[in-house]
Amino acid sequence: MKKILLLLSITSIFSSSMNAQTPVYKDKNAPIENRIKDLVGKMNLEEKILQLNQYTAGMNTNVNNIGAEIKEIPSGIGSLIFFASDPNFRNSIQKKAMEESRLGIPILFGFDVIHGFRTVYPISLAQACSWNPALVTKAAAVAAKEAKLSGVDWTFSPMIDVARDPRWGRVSEGYGEDPYTNAIFGVATLKGYQGQKLSDQYSIAACLKHYVGYGASEGGRDYRYSDISAQSLWETYLIPYEACVKAGAATLMSAFNDISGVPASANHYTLTEILKDRWKHDGFVVSDWGSVEQLIHQGVAANRKEAGYKAFMAGVEMDMTDNVYFQTFKELITEKKIPMAKIDEAVTRVLRVKFRLGLFDKPYTDVVEESKRYLNPEDINIARQLAAESMILLKNNNNTLPLNSTKQIALVGPMAKDKTNLLGSWSFNGKDQNVESIFEGFEKEFKDVSLNYAKGCDFDGTDESGFNEAIASAQNSDIIIICLGEKKSWSGENASRSTIALPAIQEKLVQELKKIGKPVVLVISNGRPLELVRIEPMADAIVEMWQPGVAGGSALSGIISGRINPSGKLSMTFPLTTGQIPTYYNMRQSARPFGDQGNYQDISTEPLYWFGHGLSYTTFEYGNLKLSAQKLKKTEKLTVDVEVSNSGNMKGVETVFWYINDPACTISRPMKELKYFEKKEIEAGAKSVYTFEIDPIRDLSYVDSNGKRFLESGDFYVMVGKQKVKFEIID
Ligand code: NOJ
Repeated sequence: MKKILLLLSITSIFSSSMNAQTPVYKDKNAPIENRIKDLVGKMNLEEKILQLNQYTAGMNTNVNNIGAEIKEIPSGIGSLIFFASDPNFRNSIQKKAMEESRLGIPILFGFDVIHGFRTVYPISLAQACSWNPALVTKAAAVAAKEAKLSGVDWTFSPMIDVARDPRWGRVSEGYGEDPYTNAIFGVATLKGYQGQKLSDQYSIAACLKHYVGYGASEGGRDYRYSDISAQSLWETYLIPYEACVKAGAATLMSAFNDISGVPASANHYTLTEILKDRWKHDGFVVSDWGSVEQLIHQGVAANRKEAGYKAFMAGVEMDMTDNVYFQTFKELITEKKIPMAKIDEAVTRVLRVKFRLGLFDKPYTDVVEESKRYLNPEDINIARQLAAESMILLKNNNNTLPLNSTKQIALVGPMAKDKTNLLGSWSFNGKDQNVESIFEGFEKEFKDVSLNYAKGCDFDGTDESGFNEAIASAQNSDIIIICLGEKKSWSGENASRSTIALPAIQEKLVQELKKIGKPVVLVISNGRPLELVRIEPMADAIVEMWQPGVAGGSALSGIISGRINPSGKLSMTFPLTTGQIPTYYNMRQSARPFGDQGNYQDISTEPLYWFGHGLSYTTFEYGNLKLSAQKLKKTEKLTVDVEVSNSGNMKGVETVFWYINDPACTISRPMKELKYFEKKEIEAGAKSVYTFEIDPIRDLSYVDSNGKRFLESGDFYVMVGKQKVKFEIID
């Protein structure tokens, strides 16, 4: 008995002396806020300032110089953009931080993991066309796992910038023209990245970008001024951010654009009053690349010091790459321009994300051999399924598709054997050799059919020398499938276009092949809606395949053969011509909505394909909308049902979109606003009931220009397909 007691007391002396020596911030079991407080209390000014800076690592690809690169990285740096994918490299940089910095603060490694890491998924704009947020979450979780195993803790994604100008190259990176859609898919994506908890084995932190209003860049030109009224800011651009902040997004990135005279990266109203004070976000904001220094070009700062001061005081805690904070903050603090308490708050926010990620307790990446890190067959299957669900049958005259008894297919066009461009922009770690081309997909799908391939022409230029070969292939075939589109470099950052039409050479190829008189199917792979006005009439069928990532070939060939019944629907309107921009479904009503009033004189005012458009090989018929009440109080709920029958002879998937319209209220509302959607599979000949439970406070209220939410009584409409049914909210 005595012996045991003695032992116990020795152990307790030992552990209490350990506790006395182990600082609270290193104690795994202490609450995070206590750990942060303890650490901030121990940090000197230089250490604090370094935490607010982000540099890069891994841009140097010369293996002989890697040691030199590590030497240059300050051991106390807050974060690095990690361009490499080798966990050992990350670990050797991290070792320097853990062992050579005075307090051993781990570095946060960030990277642009946008639509997959090595297993590349369809671009975000396409993902939204799947209307399958659960599948998008799965894809983001795979991206997080692959990134984490490559040394990345933090991704600069999702991009939730509502974008209504397809000339802007970055429409490919977001979820289209609708605030609600961006909110739903932003949340789905961040859930995939962040998992249940940030400290889980394969979780990485998300970064909502680009806060805010970047999608409104004038003329679709990148980095430009954006003229955004307070009303549009609240009812359009902030909606997805609010949803994602509430869903727990760890960080945000401040945007490049100037919001009506106050750049997004120096905007106290959006960064502090809205984000931190109203929404209570307690993570941090990183600037975009150089967006602190760029305040000089934007005309609100005379020099780097003033730029740093403005960005920081507005609420940007971390400076991405331009080194302004590092170089100017000591002076700004000594001059008492920046209060020390503000620095401590910013450092606290940065450290909070690091603690939540578990970096202090597990700073190093597990080293798993490369062949086991990436491209697991089940993860490629997710890519294939997401690609298939995001592809859209835009047109299908006389049931040209699916191909039933074809013996000879002409597979022509610059995209037919291409791999690189199917990856889309922002796919740094994607590799061409892992991509399934359209041709490869067809080879597997159509085993008993002759595929007559010809490239025909390049993506652009004027060389028509390949036309004759394409014409010969077409002449020897029953059907002509022309694979066209955009190079991946034509969308993404700094990739705006003055026209959204395909280059003339691609349109000419279609014209020449059309002359042969056989059915023509257009397959397009692109990063934005396209102007198809000249070639659409020549096509019997059109399939939008987007930039589908690694597994698009067999997803497409499955749709062409009918093995897969297409179900994707557009998340962004296809204008008829570039001149129609902006055209989006949730516009406000014209003052003269009758006859040809206010329409274009030279072309139709209708776009080619509206948001939500997408065909199937089967037909769906909608029954009459059934409402549980005609009148209800603001606190009551209204249930609306619609029965959808699959009236064709093939199993299919239908997404029902539920829209609301408020025809008369204090601040005018759009003609219709998406509030809910549901996607279900229905067997041939079967029926299914789709239900929307309207919560008036959530679904019928709207914000004013101060962000205050209102719900006014009066008439409303619920809209589904071609139906529009009135109900009333009473006081
Ligand atoms: C600039 C881009 O605008 C942003 O989206 C990206 O995350 C950063 N560079 C980091 O690469």
